[in-house]
Amino acid sequence: MNKTIAVIGSSRRNGNTGKLIDLIAKELSIEVIDLSLKNISPFDYEHKNTNDDFLPLMTHLLKYDNIIFVSPVYWFAMSAQMKVFIDRMSDFLSIEELNDQGRELRNKVGYVVSTSISEQIDESFLNSFTDTFKYLGIRYGGFVHVNCRNGFNADADQNEIDNFIKKLKPCSISDAI
Ligand SMILES: Cc1cc2nc3c(=O)[nH]c(=O)nc-3n(C[C@H](O)[C@H](O)[C@H](O)COP(=O)(O)O)c2cc1C
Repeated sequence: MNKTIAVIGSSRRNGNTGKLIDLIAKELSIEVIDLSLKNISPFDYEHKNTNDDFLPLMTHLLKYDNIIFVSPVYWFAMSAQMKVFIDRMSDFLSIEELNDQGRELRNKVGYVVSTSISEQIDESFLNSFTDTFKYLGIRYGGFVHVNCRNGFNADADQNEIDNFIKKLKPCSISDAI
């Protein structure tokens, strides 16, 4: 089984960020899960929402070693869809029966894929992922960012994209199984 999976939170699946992750996913032959199609509600201190799509989605993601978090930069931060999803990681800390499942995140490697209309990735945007990874015990594997000021065009960032793909490409036949 492929060891990598991607999860995208964007306000349009086929926009700039969607195009970028589709290009990466095609090279890696990986699944991309669209958070907009999931019914995931914001964190609830009373945990009245544990029957929504968050736990089944996490159970699926935890089958993989590498998780790519994909989001555009919206107001110097991750998308609302991604933020709601990340907030729900708190379920693993605050619901005792989920503590063990949450600990499984410690064996994972997290990556970030983003687009914006800036050449550089926003530090605050990237830090919100890497700090969250650190807190949850997820090892940080790296990021790739594409400037979409003039629409999506991967050409200018092709080297970075290729290097990112290389990091995640299974390197032997046994890795790919
Ligand atoms: C609500 C909103 C907020 C945005 N905020 C930023 C921002 O803070 N910095 C930036 O460089 N681009 C910003 N942008 C531009 C997007 O990051 C950029 O167009 C991105 O490629 C859009 O990806 P998408 O097609 O997946 O939505 C914003 C766009 C929107 C719609």
